[in-house]
Amino acid sequence: MTDAAEIVADLTLEEKASLTSGLNFWFTEPVARAGIPSIMLTDGPHGVRKQTGGGDHLGLGDAVPATCFPPAVALGGTFDPALLERVGVALGTEARAEQVAILLGPGINIKRSPLCGRNFEHLSEDPLLSGVLGAALVRGLQSQGVGASLKHYAANNQETDRMRVSADIDPRPMREIYLRGFQRVVEDARPWTVMCSYNRINGVYASENRWLLTEVLRDEWGFDGLVVSDWGAVADRVAALSAGLDLEMPSTGGRTDAEIVAAVRAGTLDESVLDTAARRIVDLVRRAVAGAQPDATYDADAHHALAREAAAASVVLLRNEHGLLPLAPDTKVAVIGELARTPRYQGAGSSRINPTRLDNALDEIRALATVEVPFAAGYGADGSASPELTAEATAAAVAADTVLLFLGVPAELESEGFDRDDLELPASQLDLLDAVVAANPNTAVVLSNGGVVRLSGFAERVPAIVEGWLLGQAGGGGLADVLYGVVNPSARLAETVPVRLEDTAAYGNFPGEHGHVRYGEGLHVGYRWYDARQLEVSYPFGFGLSYTTFDYSDAAVTTDGGLAVTVTVTNTGDRDGSEVVQVYIGLPGSAVARAPRELKGFAKVHLAVGESRTVRVPVRRSDLAYWDTRVDAWVVEGGTYTVEVGASSRDIRATCTVDVAGDEVRLPLSLDSSIGEVLADPVAAGLVLEAFASLTGGGAAPPLDESVLKMAESMPLSRMVGFLGDKFDRDKLQQLIDAANAPR
Ligand code: BGC
Repeated sequence: MTDAAEIVADLTLEEKASLTSGLNFWFTEPVARAGIPSIMLTDGPHGVRKQTGGGDHLGLGDAVPATCFPPAVALGGTFDPALLERVGVALGTEARAEQVAILLGPGINIKRSPLCGRNFEHLSEDPLLSGVLGAALVRGLQSQGVGASLKHYAANNQETDRMRVSADIDPRPMREIYLRGFQRVVEDARPWTVMCSYNRINGVYASENRWLLTEVLRDEWGFDGLVVSDWGAVADRVAALSAGLDLEMPSTGGRTDAEIVAAVRAGTLDESVLDTAARRIVDLVRRAVAGAQPDATYDADAHHALAREAAAASVVLLRNEHGLLPLAPDTKVAVIGELARTPRYQGAGSSRINPTRLDNALDEIRALATVEVPFAAGYGADGSASPELTAEATAAAVAADTVLLFLGVPAELESEGFDRDDLELPASQLDLLDAVVAANPNTAVVLSNGGVVRLSGFAERVPAIVEGWLLGQAGGGGLADVLYGVVNPSARLAETVPVRLEDTAAYGNFPGEHGHVRYGEGLHVGYRWYDARQLEVSYPFGFGLSYTTFDYSDAAVTTDGGLAVTVTVTNTGDRDGSEVVQVYIGLPGSAVARAPRELKGFAKVHLAVGESRTVRVPVRRSDLAYWDTRVDAWVVEGGTYTVEVGASSRDIRATCTVDVAGDEVRLPLSLDSSIGEVLADPVAAGLVLEAFASLTGGGAAPPLDESVLKMAESMPLSRMVGFLGDKFDRDKLQQLIDAANAPR
């Protein structure tokens, strides 16, 4: 086969420029003469949104029917990479059947604030969980010969002013929180494409950010795919191409292609830069052509069943007093809340899928119940309440043994493109809750929401809370399965439910002002923040109940390059079920700022009643590293690490410690180095102490008093010159430093 470089060498300048931009909204430009076809990229992420008419990225126009799997907010809570890989495979199959070459997802941005209007499209507040699950989705999708587009790279953590705002982030949180998940997906799953985000990062547009798109992504992480712009993210095409943005989408009707041509002709853009991007397009098109199957089909029923399985696996049981749930088929229940009949199952915007069919919880509950199930809307489809609707709801509640009350965030409050103002459920729904609970305290609240809502106002007043997120087209069935115990809930919170908005890490720094948002909380995002501040939360990260119980014993940790954590988990209840074993790591006394605990590994294990199993959770050594700003590199600090094995970030069942040898970080010393820094380096310390000893007539240097040492530690060497009299000038000190810096 002809080399991509040879194909590109045969193209005209104009052809190359056109190749690196869209033909229209969803297709790349072909060059028929050179046998380069056009390929289709389309949203994503939790289904195939292949538009049938004109293109838009607001989710407005019609799209072909496709399975609407649970959005990322739901899948994140499964903690189940194997399940996500299967969802990825199904997405790939559907994309292939629709001749879609690239599915625009997954989205793995960190949920920095629960207010972000697009949190429903992202997996977690934790980078390890986002990375592991994101990689699983990419693997599944790409196994079908369809490319992923890992997005939105990077730091697209809010919707307010998203096309301009500068996310101002220090290097450590940038690497350890906001880039870490991307790094994992790129290194582990090798996505065909990465989508750069709209926003600026520390003042520079992601689309024009050479550091981001080339130095980090390619030079450090070894990315060998193609970088595509988010739709309309390019402000300056020539600058973007130079920075490493290969493909501009959608089409600009040739306007920016002409800018590229002009820049090359004017000598301000090296043609080889364009050649590289064009080569990457050719490579991508070839991958797509190799993966394409013109007669591919998929089994919509099987995919609906998978969507139901994934939905049930995503439901988080937050509260279940006195075993109110699961319901028996003959429990006299009343279902209240329009959301049970008219589900909110995905978010608004570019990811809006046209589902192949749509379950609602009411019908699915009725299908599982052996008795009649009355329903009262409680509020209108538009969220409106009325005394009549309330009266109807309370009458239904009074007549039932158990009430299932469906509440949620109305679609118009939560969408791509804008952020929420608060974490509240609508006041009308909270009034309805009061009325229903007064009529029948045996009420289970079932929630539909894309971002967390405040539960602290009522959680203690209801015996059960079921967090149903947005669950995709089979969410109604998935919810019914959990409510009736057909499926034992096993999802865990991938994001903390705070007591109040005012407690959240980004509060006061979100969504920024005058074009800048300062990530002032630094590393302390999500549970890292609440733990560091010892703040009470409503429900912690990693939390979720089951209808059974699990016991942990015999936790142990050994080093094996990384860490190998083992623990025996026993199902001590009376139902089969799955537990998510979580491993958190901390380093008390660390020389750098750290969160008290960080998730570094997890494993989901299914156990039959009474079954016991030893679960092994590996922790990579690279996941122990922090970003060392002195050397601009990942460094594992040596020390005694705390390894906490838990059922949530606040339900630690066993704590072990393990000694980890650190990476050697040798910083070149200079006259500006402090005495403390010199003494920390054994070779330099030896040389300097010897030299000082000679000043005092030779012999071993007298041991320095602790407090004197502490005082002197921060003094730069250069400032000592004055104290040393004429026997030791700057030159002599410099010679010592040079000797200490010599290669060892
Ligand atoms: C979104 C992307 C999406 C693209 C194409 C943009 O507005 O940010 O996530 O893939 O549109 O629809």
